[in-house]
Amino acid sequence: MTTEDFKRAAAEAALAYVEPGMKLGLGTGTTAAHFVELLGEKVADGFDIVGVPTSEATRELAERHGVPLTTLKDTPELDLTVDGADEIDPQLRLIKGGGAALLREKIVAFASKRMIVIADATKRVEHLGAFPLPIEVVPFGKESTRRAIAKLAKELGGSGEVDIRRAEDECPVVTDSGHIIVDAHFGRIDDPQKVADALNRIPGVVEHGLFIGFAERAILAGPDGVFELE
Ligand code: 5RP
Repeated sequence: MTTEDFKRAAAEAALAYVEPGMKLGLGTGTTAAHFVELLGEKVADGFDIVGVPTSEATRELAERHGVPLTTLKDTPELDLTVDGADEIDPQLRLIKGGGAALLREKIVAFASKRMIVIADATKRVEHLGAFPLPIEVVPFGKESTRRAIAKLAKELGGSGEVDIRRAEDECPVVTDSGHIIVDAHFGRIDDPQKVADALNRIPGVVEHGLFIGFAERAILAGPDGVFELE
């Protein structure tokens, strides 16, 4: 089986938590895309749900697969968000944002009563931080903000390397909300809450990819099968 098969298996297992009539948050990324596709099949079979996408990419995908959509304006409270992650620690703290959608992902997850994370088993880690932390930053003053993040990352034991994420054409990646993304090397993150609090004090930081206290369950799939952490 390939990594893609594992992602799909995790996404398929998450369908067991979806009930008719639910208002769903729809995540972003390759694993969440499997979930949206599978959800489309259920909708075609008459399953009645509605979703709020966490990115324009997910919105387009959901539309292509016939998943009915709404917005947080019309549906401000959701039942369940299903989304992927870049790292998942034993306390279900997450690093997200590899797909540059962390701001909308966090807003949608915060608006949901529950969040389930789906991933291939390689995303499970003992300590967060091997994956550089994605941080959404306001373009105005981005170099000052980048330096402030780098200083913080160094103070907290990381290399302090903070890269502006660039697309293939070398232009900075611009998020759906018009911000840029920096990827920050904090090294092993022993105290995610401390990093989150410190980042929240930097004015140019819109949001960071540490999701603490969001996920109630992670569904992981790997060579040993599908298993759940809670
Ligand atoms: C997007 C995300 C994704 O959920 C995360 O990057 C995992 O992506 P994938 O399922 O493609 O590995 O946070 O911003």
